[in-house]
Amino acid sequence: MAASGSRSCLQYLFHLAHDNLDFRLPEIKALLALRSKPFHPCESFKEQSPFWCLDHLSEEDVCTVMARSVCAKSAFELWGHGQTHSELRTSLLNYPQEKMSPYMQKGSSYRINVDTFNKTLSFEERIKKIDAMDYLPFEGTVSLKDPQHIFCLLEDYGMDPNIVPEQPNYIYFCRWIADGQRELIRSYSVKNRHFIGNTSMDAGLSFIMANHAKVKENDLVFDPFVGTGSLLVSCSHFGAYVCGTDIDYNTIHGKGRSSRKNQKWRGPDENIRANLRQYKTENMYVDVMVSDASKPVWRNAALFDAIITDPPYGIRESTRRTGSHKDKTKSPDGLYAESHVPVSQAYHLSDIFTDLLNFSAHHLVLGGRLVYWLPVYRPEYCEEMVPLHPCLQLISNCEQTLSSHTCRRLITMEKIKEPEDLDSLAHLSDPRFSPYQGHNAFREKYFSGLNKRSGKDDTKADVSGK
Ligand SMILES: C[S@@+](CC[C@H](N)C(=O)[O-])C[C@H]1O[C@@H](n2cnc3c(N)ncnc32)[C@H](O)[C@@H]1O
Repeated sequence: MAASGSRSCLQYLFHLAHDNLDFRLPEIKALLALRSKPFHPCESFKEQSPFWCLDHLSEEDVCTVMARSVCAKSAFELWGHGQTHSELRTSLLNYPQEKMSPYMQKGSSYRINVDTFNKTLSFEERIKKIDAMDYLPFEGTVSLKDPQHIFCLLEDYGMDPNIVPEQPNYIYFCRWIADGQRELIRSYSVKNRHFIGNTSMDAGLSFIMANHAKVKENDLVFDPFVGTGSLLVSCSHFGAYVCGTDIDYNTIHGKGRSSRKNQKWRGPDENIRANLRQYKTENMYVDVMVSDASKPVWRNAALFDAIITDPPYGIRESTRRTGSHKDKTKSPDGLYAESHVPVSQAYHLSDIFTDLLNFSAHHLVLGGRLVYWLPVYRPEYCEEMVPLHPCLQLISNCEQTLSSHTCRRLITMEKIKEPEDLDSLAHLSDPRFSPYQGHNAFREKYFSGLNKRSGKDDTKADVSGK
């Protein structure tokens, strides 16, 4: 970004967190799309950078994005920038006076923060940098505790922790507008959650999924592999009504063995509804039920605004569906007797995804989003492995590494048309169908890889909840 002269329209600077790198762009784009705003980066935008400068937004747009984002730490109105402090000074002195003065008036109070990326400065160094900004015409008084206006000097020392330059690569001076929702990662941590299981989804990722899905107030969101309902928790936090299904009776009814270290059996009221109660969103709970995602139980209609899910991939939970190879328990009319207890058979991963995409094509509203995790054996991954559907447009595909040879990819798709008769079979004629069948062997590859590699990789897979 060239240090600019006078600017007619405002630019906003987003300070992004440096974890979950891949998820940041789709999150910010989705949140802007909720306000029908395009993602319009300034020149020399670098996706991996901690600082993104965006154009064509209003302060209200920025505040709405920050009220949802878990990838962005803070957002600012950009007043000046440059590669050196001298360039920054020129840029700041060119910033229109009338845009600065409302925040610098006599009688107002302010504070200047110094924030660095890839370098830690001492207290004295920070003070020196603040003192060097004395060319700015502040007329108010400094208040460290409760200022009316907060300004920030942001210094970017590059992304290589092994090569930290003496001077920053780039410097920004801005007016602080809002912080993001990083705090949700702590306050919704599964560690403190009432009802958890072996595969409960991490809080930060659950919020990212809800954001990628553009979940908004009064939406109806469905998770067909609901488990302990972590995804329902994040969606209900954003004001959506939530429901789900799971094949596991114990999970749905909150019974059976506990996943907690010092507890053998689940206690009374350990269930999804109680989780929502814990976070004060019980009023958004529709219901959950025991049901096999491979079987049609819903009336044929576009029922859901979003489908968000973490399908089983057989590492810590089984991939089963109801039915036997002979299917002889069915009566001739195809109905089961009331006392029928279904047996189960393997549910191949490729079938899980084909079913999930078909289900979404039928049951999402137009413009509704499907967000799900696709497990991948990294040495064999190619983009052709991501399942497609004629009714669903691929919006984003983000990697989360689990180990040196495995990862999962967060796939976001948007419904663009209503399904026609042959759409559900489209994957069979797709030349990409064979690579996509490779997902079936994920479990074997995961464990064969485990045997070959060091225990270090193992820990990473565990942290991610799989
Ligand atoms: C990865 S877990 C989901 C975890 C969930 N996101 C959470 O936070 O607890 C996958 C879930 O799919 C369920 N499942 C497996 N096969 C299924 C099927 N055929 N239909 C519905 N659910 C199934 C499992 O019982 C398991 O709870």
